Amino acid sequence: MIKIGIDYYPEHWDKSMWQEDIRQMAALGIHTVRIAEFAWGRMEPEEGRFDFGWLDEAVDMIARAGMKVILGTPTNSGPVWLYTDHPDTLQWDRTGKPTDFGIRGHRCLVSPTFRRYAGRIVEELAKRYAGRPEVFAWQLDNEMESNHCTCPACTRAFRDYLQKKYGTLERLNRAWGSDVWSGQISHWDQIKPLLSPDCSPNWFNPAYMLDYERFCAASTADYVRFQCGIIRRYDPEAVITTNSCFGANLPDFHQEFAPLNVAAYDNYPPLVLPKDPEALYSNAFALDFIRSFKQRNFWILEQLGGPMGCWSPITPAMEPGMLEGYALQAVAHGADLLSFFRWRTSISGAEMFCHGILDHSNQPNRRLRELAHLCRRLEAIPDLDQTTLNSQVAMLYSAEQEFALKNSTQSKGFAYWTQMRLLHDACMNLGVNVDILPEGHSLDGYKVVLIPTHFITNPEVVRQAEAFAAAGGTVVLTNRSGVKDQNGNCILGQSLPGAFRTLCGCSVQEYDAIGEANQRLRTIHGETHSITSWCDILELEGAKAWATYEGRFYQGSPAITRNRYGKGYAYYLGTVGEKGLYRTLLTEVFREQGVDMLEMLPQGVEVTARSGSGGTYRFYFNNTTARKIFRINGESIALAPFEMKIKQGEGQWL
Ligand code: GAL
Repeated sequence: MIKIGIDYYPEHWDKSMWQEDIRQMAALGIHTVRIAEFAWGRMEPEEGRFDFGWLDEAVDMIARAGMKVILGTPTNSGPVWLYTDHPDTLQWDRTGKPTDFGIRGHRCLVSPTFRRYAGRIVEELAKRYAGRPEVFAWQLDNEMESNHCTCPACTRAFRDYLQKKYGTLERLNRAWGSDVWSGQISHWDQIKPLLSPDCSPNWFNPAYMLDYERFCAASTADYVRFQCGIIRRYDPEAVITTNSCFGANLPDFHQEFAPLNVAAYDNYPPLVLPKDPEALYSNAFALDFIRSFKQRNFWILEQLGGPMGCWSPITPAMEPGMLEGYALQAVAHGADLLSFFRWRTSISGAEMFCHGILDHSNQPNRRLRELAHLCRRLEAIPDLDQTTLNSQVAMLYSAEQEFALKNSTQSKGFAYWTQMRLLHDACMNLGVNVDILPEGHSLDGYKVVLIPTHFITNPEVVRQAEAFAAAGGTVVLTNRSGVKDQNGNCILGQSLPGAFRTLCGCSVQEYDAIGEANQRLRTIHGETHSITSWCDILELEGAKAWATYEGRFYQGSPAITRNRYGKGYAYYLGTVGEKGLYRTLLTEVFREQGVDMLEMLPQGVEVTARSGSGGTYRFYFNNTTARKIFRINGESIALAPFEMKIKQGEGQWL
C-alpha cells in the first residue's frame, strides 16, 4: 500500500500533547512519522552529554500506536555550542567568511571537526536505534545541496581533489587551458574555490569552474557515504535516504543517491499557479526527475500540507482539492510514500507561519479532512505500490551539463533546466510517461530518446545515441550539443553538433545567439512558431529540413532537421521554441515511432500510468484552477480544479 506519513517535531510540543497527536495520526491511517532531523540540540545539549530519553519516549509512543518512524540524522542544524566552541565547523560563504549561526544548514560538510561531531551524533543514534523494528527508515541530514563552502578545509580538499585527478600541475594547466589571461597555476596552494561574489562566475575559467562544481558535488556525495557508512555498521539492512530539493546549488543527484536505498524529495508544488499556462507541468517534471535518481519509485519526505510562509510572505490558502490532488500527482509519477509537512504549524521559530496540516488553533480543519480522504482513497487501492511507470520515451540528464552550462551562459534565457522542461512539458501535454535517465544508462526498450543540450561531450552518449537510432529508435537532440570536451573546453576543428554531426546529418555553419528576441520559423507542414534565444544556421549533410527560419539573413535556412540514420531517425533542433513547437514536433516523432499518446488533452491535464502484475492504473490530474472536460476513447472525463481521477484498467474509476 502507498504509505502516508507525517513530519512531526515532538521537541516543539509539550509532552502532554504527544499522546493525543499520535492517537489522531494513527486514527487517520498514518503509517510513518518522520522525526528528529533538526533535534541535535535536544539530543546533545552539551558537548558529549547525550539525552535520548525524550526521543525514546516519542519513538515508543509512535510504535505503540502502530506506526513506525523515519528517523532523521540531525546534522543539518548543529547546536549553538558546536559553532561557538568549534568555529571550524561553520560553512564559509562566497565572500570567504564564516556564516553566522542562527538559521540552519551552516555546517561545512567537509570540515574534519564537523565530521567528528556529526559522526558521533549519528553513531549515537545508530547505536541506539539501528535495526529496531520501530525504525522504518533513516533520513540523512536535510535538503543537502552541493557543498559550495569556501572554508580552509574545503580549500585544502579541493586542492587534494585536483592533485589526485591531475597528478601534476602541468597536466592541470593543460586541461584548464590556463595560458589564457596568464592563469597558469605554479603551486597547488594557489588554487582556491572560485566563488567571488563580486563578479559573475562567467568571468572565471569554465574548465576551472567545472572541476570546482564536480568537487563540490563529490563532497556532498562523500558526506552521504560517510553518514550511511556509520548507520550501516550498526544495521547493514537499514533503509537510508535523504530529502532532496532543488536549491541554487544542485548536487549530482545520481552520485548522491548511489549509496542510498531510495530517492526522496520535498514536494512543494506551487500554491499560486503561474499565470502563464506555458509554465504548467513544472511539478510533473520535478517528480519525474526524482524518479530518475534511482530509476525506480521514490518517496516524498515533505509533502505540501498547508500554506507556505517563512522565508517569504504567507501564500494564499490551499485551494480545495489541492492537498489531495498534489499528493496523488506525486503517486502518479512514482511516489510510494508521502510524508506530509508537518502535523501542526509551529508556534515559534522562523517557520511559525509555514503551515502544517493543523493550524495554530489546533482544531480539525479542511486540510485534515482532505488528508483523511486521501488516506481512505489510497487504502482502497492496496496494490498500488506494486506498480511502476513504464515509459517508451527517455530523456538524458547529467549534472555535468548542468554544472557546465550554469557557469557559461550561452544566451540570455538559455538554461539546461529549460531545455529539459520544454521537451518534458510537451510529453506531459501528450500524456506520455518519460523516464529521465543518467548518461550511460541502457536505452533498451525505449522508442524515443530526448537529449537536451549535451554540452560536454560524453563519447559514450554519442555511441549509444548512434546505436539507438541505427536500431530503429528516434533521437531528438537540441542546440549547444557537442560543444565542449570533458575538461570544459571547446573543441578545435569541428563543426557543431560536433560528435553528433554524423548522427544528425547536418552541421552548424554559424550561430546567432538572439537572447530574448523573438523570431519565427516555419515547419514543413506550413505552421509557424515563435523561437527565441538561439539560432543555429544549419547546412544539410544528408538530413532534411523539418523547419526553416523565417527572418534575418538566414531566412530559409534549416532550423530543425530530420535525418534517417540506420533504421531510425535523428532530429536536431538548432533553436529554442515556444511550447507549441515541441508539441508539434514530438507528436510527429511519437506517431512515427508508435508511442502511445493522448493528443486531445487540455493544457494542464496530466495523464500517467502505473502498472504491475495486478494491472494498470491511469491517473488523470487537472493541474489548473479551471474545470477541464475532454474525451478519451469516446468517454467524457470531467476534472474539477486539482482533481485526480484514477482508473483501473479499462474499467472502474477509483
Ligand atoms: C523544507 C525544509 C523543511 C521546512 C520546509 C518549509 O525545505 O526541509 O524543514 O523548512 O522547507 O517549507
